[in-house]
Amino acid sequence: MAPSAIAVVSRISYLASDVLVNVAGTNLASSFSPHFDKLYAFRPPKLFNVPNGADLGLRIPPISRDAPLVAITLDAERDVLTRLVPSLLTLASTPLVVNVAVNGDLSDILPLRTAVDFLIHSATVQQAHDNALLASRLARTERVIVLHAFQIHARGDVDEVDELKVKPFLEAPTKPGASQHHGNGDVTSNSLWSLVSVPLKEDQRMQQYRTAAWTTLALVNRPLLPLHYEGNRNAATAIISLGATIPSDSLPPGCVLFELSLVQPSPSVDLLTSLPAAVSHIICVEQIYGWPTKWTPLYLDLLALLQSIEPGHRPQLKSGVLAELPNSSREIHLGILGLIEDASSSNPHSRLTLGTVPSNAAEHRAKAPHVPKHEVAYIKALEHVFAERLEISNSPELVEIKGEVATRPEYALGRVENRLAERAELKAAVESLLRSNRETGVVSKSLQALLEKWLDVDPAAERDGRLENEIIRELNSHAIDHPTLQNIASLTHQFRSTSHWIIGSDAWSYDLGSSGLHHAIASGLNVNLLILDTTPYSARRAADPETRKKDIGLYAMNYGNVYVASVAIYSSYGHVLRTLIEADKFQGPSVVLAYLPFVSENDSALEVLKETKLAVDSGYWPLYRWNPSKANEPFSLDSEVIKANLQEFLDRQNHLSQLVASEPQLAAELVTSLGSKLNDARSQKASEAYEAMLGGLGGPPLLVLYASDGGTAEKYAKRLATRAKARGLTTRVQTMDSFPIDELKQEESVAFITSTAGQGEPPQNGRDTFKALNAAATRGETLFATLKYAVFGMGDSHYWPRPEDAHYYNKPGKDLDRRLEQLGGERMADLGLGDDQDADGPMTGYKAWEPLLWKALGVGEVEVTEAEPEPVTNEHIKIASNYLRGTIAEGLKDTSTGSLAPSDGQLTKFHGIYEQDDRDIRDERKARGLEPAYAFMIRVRMPGGVCTPAQWLDIDRISDVHGNGTFKLTTRQTFQFHGVIKKHLKPAIQAINRALLDTIAACGDVNR
Ligand SMILES: Cc1cc2nc3c(=O)[nH]c(=O)nc-3n(C[C@H](O)[C@H](O)[C@H](O)COP(=O)(O)O)c2cc1C
Repeated sequence: MAPSAIAVVSRISYLASDVLVNVAGTNLASSFSPHFDKLYAFRPPKLFNVPNGADLGLRIPPISRDAPLVAITLDAERDVLTRLVPSLLTLASTPLVVNVAVNGDLSDILPLRTAVDFLIHSATVQQAHDNALLASRLARTERVIVLHAFQIHARGDVDEVDELKVKPFLEAPTKPGASQHHGNGDVTSNSLWSLVSVPLKEDQRMQQYRTAAWTTLALVNRPLLPLHYEGNRNAATAIISLGATIPSDSLPPGCVLFELSLVQPSPSVDLLTSLPAAVSHIICVEQIYGWPTKWTPLYLDLLALLQSIEPGHRPQLKSGVLAELPNSSREIHLGILGLIEDASSSNPHSRLTLGTVPSNAAEHRAKAPHVPKHEVAYIKALEHVFAERLEISNSPELVEIKGEVATRPEYALGRVENRLAERAELKAAVESLLRSNRETGVVSKSLQALLEKWLDVDPAAERDGRLENEIIRELNSHAIDHPTLQNIASLTHQFRSTSHWIIGSDAWSYDLGSSGLHHAIASGLNVNLLILDTTPYSARRAADPETRKKDIGLYAMNYGNVYVASVAIYSSYGHVLRTLIEADKFQGPSVVLAYLPFVSENDSALEVLKETKLAVDSGYWPLYRWNPSKANEPFSLDSEVIKANLQEFLDRQNHLSQLVASEPQLAAELVTSLGSKLNDARSQKASEAYEAMLGGLGGPPLLVLYASDGGTAEKYAKRLATRAKARGLTTRVQTMDSFPIDELKQEESVAFITSTAGQGEPPQNGRDTFKALNAAATRGETLFATLKYAVFGMGDSHYWPRPEDAHYYNKPGKDLDRRLEQLGGERMADLGLGDDQDADGPMTGYKAWEPLLWKALGVGEVEVTEAEPEPVTNEHIKIASNYLRGTIAEGLKDTSTGSLAPSDGQLTKFHGIYEQDDRDIRDERKARGLEPAYAFMIRVRMPGGVCTPAQWLDIDRISDVHGNGTFKLTTRQTFQFHGVIKKHLKPAIQAINRALLDTIAACGDVNR
């Protein structure tokens, strides 16, 4: 018996991959599993069976490091495929083949098209074999994700490749010329291609596909084509199909059939060069039964493609379903005739169909998703606490009524919003009714008493629903003849206060910036989110011990008006219940992070328990509650073990705390006086060191002045200074604008380094110097009688690529060099120019320039033996910053200064914040012994520069409350706030977040 498609694909996956991940169902087996057991390979892959609820985006990276090829095998089940989308995005640069066994319907596969680089479909066993090889080669050589979907019931014989040839085939280098188009042969001159009015170009992906297909052909001796065709080359009707194969002997004479193999990228050129020019009708049939919209994916691709044909020659395009075909070719033949007739009729069938759509297809679509058994523990806890009051807004049961959309967080949030609005309407109606009842008397005394009581009751306190049952009973026996009473009667389901919960996985909320979580938090609604984290601690630790997982809790706390808690049901059930109650009571969004580590549904409760204990006791999963309604002490740590450890630590520090507790005044004095003493001591030390350096070293002085926006010129300047010191020169390094021109006159030797900003402009911290020098030159002054100078300019000769803009290249450096000469300075070394475009970047020019300077300063011959310390760069600061935290949090609390520490100044850029000071009053403040008037600029991150009217109003408000009352629209397509003082930084950013915007990576250097 010939092997089945699943057997051949299992074999190729096994032989080709280095890591093989088999996504298995509840019994830890997939359709592939039995085949793997029988296979043998010289170099077998590492095989992992992963349960189908697992987050592959988390699971795969740690096991696939440096693996030349990773393969995933899975059955086409909707739940699994839907969860695959975010995982595939995480796995973007992994060489990965996903082999999916499809049972006819491709509805669940096609939505994955945009999440992968290639999507290949196989309709016969031979194709499944050849395409599995092609997919492996493609994924491995191009490091891309290839989805290979094959029909599990495919038929036909198969010629299988020898085991020992597979790895050499994958490892062989690519032969030159292999990407030549080798389409379907000689039809080009007589094809639609000759009627194309807009030329088409193939993209890189298509070239990559052709190269891999060419290499595979050499192995299997069969061409691998993006599409196969059969039938009459002069046909007027073409059927383009995606799905199970249509036998060629069933084709009517005037018909040509194209079966698509490559779905992503769309093989446009192959289609146009293969479709006969005589074709007047195209029917595109796709094996998808339950597509939610009228426009199916292949149909849309073809429609777009036909736009490139001259209008008078465009064939008509119709879309249809390729359903299950009958067994006999004769019946299929009749079916195709019927399809062609339907397509050309002026009153076609509602949906063109070839074959019969299976009767269970529609039911299949609305099946409620499976809830893993362990998760039920949390749902039970919710039911335990809230009983009738509980409403899970994205409950799987809703799927059967509302369709799949019901599981989406956006849907759930909309549902909650609607419910809350209804309840508010009911309250308002009851209040208005009671107010007017004195005059109208429409409500009986007993109903009035009940309604008054209802308005007074704490909703969370009434669990049993007795009061609202009484109200409803009373209402039912009451005459409903008043409009407000009628309104109330239509909202009786709202008398019962509901506890609204949305349940999500951590994968769902992982992309913090754009997930439903973000929206739920920012909505400010009284909604509760229970977010389950199922990653076992030991798996996470083994996978990635270095990086910390994104902390949803910290993120939510940052908003300031969200109840946040972290619980673990297998660690403390009581803590879970207490938290759920508090979350419900809190009037606003609540986020409860719930730990539930399990690998498969078969894990025993004991295993989950052990894993939970490990995570909680080690501090990986701390138990805590953060309740903003407790203004004085919102945070409580509930993990017993960590609490004990912390207490021990605090006890050791106790003597200081006791002092502070008994004499708070003394403590403050201690701290502040110590602070100012420290400052004094620091400046004293600095000036002593400076004097010592000047006196002690005695070498010729060199002042290095730089102007730099992005830090590159600064790095070069500091490097120059370090190297000058190593040559015995008495060196100082400063920004140009921090060095007064008057003092510059006294200097002997100065090296200037300036980069280029804007359009040939000097960087921000050199602009005043440039202005002052220009002004002096205009006045015809000779400022410098003794100054010797050398200039090194830095720029990018391609920054403004048009020939007429060439003068912007390195303009400030060139201008400065000329200007200094004009003002009387003596050039000690020729102008040096660094160009980003040089092989070594600016370093190429710098290496030529620096020796000229040493020569001019008389230290050209000095041998430097000591290794020069590497200057501290932004990258060093970033690496040492604990993921861009630095000491920003401490700096924000320090009320003794309006600025942040210089290293934090670098870090805040990555949070969209620049520290500035008011230059106009800088000198005046300095003279008064005050620090500069620091304030911050905040730049908002706004993709595409688009905001809603509501966001605009929010921004306006934020600038009034936290900034200087204005905001700028910048050429960077976003908003900027100015004049935000340190105290307002945090609330400003929180308010921006609440407007569903953020500031992350809005400033800073190019490595964000
Ligand atoms: C916004 C911007 C504008 C620039 N404009 C010019 C220019 O007009 N001419 C030029 O030669 N280089 C230009 N450059 C290139 C920079 O001068 C060059 O990359 C330099 O190394 C940056 O140094 P810095 O990091 O110290 O600012 C520009 C760079 C940026 C980021």
